[in-house]
Amino acid sequence: MQIVRTLAHLRQVLDDLNSKGASLGFVPTMGALHAGHLALVEEARAQTGVVICSIFVNPLQFNRAEDLARYPRHEEEDLALLKPAGVDLVFMPEVGDLLGGGWEPPMYDLGGLDTVLEGAWRPGHFQGVAQVVGRLLDLIPCTDLYMGLKDYQQCLVVQRLLDLRPGQQPVLHRRPTVRDAMGLALSSRNLLLSAEDLERARGIARTWRWMKEALAPSLSGAASPMGAASTMGAASPMGVVPLSPSALIEGGLHRLEQEGLRPEYLSLVRDGTLDPWSGPADYGLPRALFAGWLGSVRLIDNELLAP
Ligand code: PAF
Repeated sequence: MQIVRTLAHLRQVLDDLNSKGASLGFVPTMGALHAGHLALVEEARAQTGVVICSIFVNPLQFNRAEDLARYPRHEEEDLALLKPAGVDLVFMPEVGDLLGGGWEPPMYDLGGLDTVLEGAWRPGHFQGVAQVVGRLLDLIPCTDLYMGLKDYQQCLVVQRLLDLRPGQQPVLHRRPTVRDAMGLALSSRNLLLSAEDLERARGIARTWRWMKEALAPSLSGAASPMGAASTMGAASPMGVVPLSPSALIEGGLHRLEQEGLRPEYLSLVRDGTLDPWSGPADYGLPRALFAGWLGSVRLIDNELLAP
């Protein structure tokens, strides 16, 4: 596994790799790696000839200085995880090298994907993500790009970025969120949580279960999510449950608060988009998106609520 820290070294190493003509899988990360990242690497390893992973805590995507300052950095542990995972090259640039040297971050037209939900609460965040991913793709001409669905909105933004970029672009592979045995989505930010807050964070998964159960009679009662047998307000094992999207969100928010979380938003979108899900008669399936706080740590998660 080669460790490359400068742009000049990267160009030199890529020239060698390109001459071998292999497909190139790329996993961009901000480090503090966990099993979710390793699942991306594993998929890249299985599908492509050369696997590159970047570790770069991108200042452009942090809208709060203290969040950037305390973002976990675990270089040694990260490298120890990547080596046995079969990564060929780890790119770990310095901020000044990657984002300096006269490079100007372009402003992307992200079609409004960057201004709602996460984007509304973290202004500029997705521009920063698109700018750094675009910068990395300029340097690393990969055929396949691997990202986790834990950052659902980010996946949509990056697909939009790929659509905007000229020329042949990599295929974006979105991998399911990796969770612990209790359903907690793995995240680098979990490292910042106390043992009590980790347990509270598992309340997000309990809320997903509650929302799924509440919705199941409506979705399974219909031959398809578009079918006629929509049963708003149907009985469930928990009694009569409110199944309009707004009532489901209200119930979910209530549970999250009971679990000790301070939600910023809980929304239902039509899966594959950021459009609001309109209820069991909607032609798409509902995906729930959450962001909220435990103490001073902000967590996000999302889940497809289909049975
Ligand atoms: O998901 C992340 O870790 C980051 O947003 C990414 C895609 C590496 C860009 O900095």
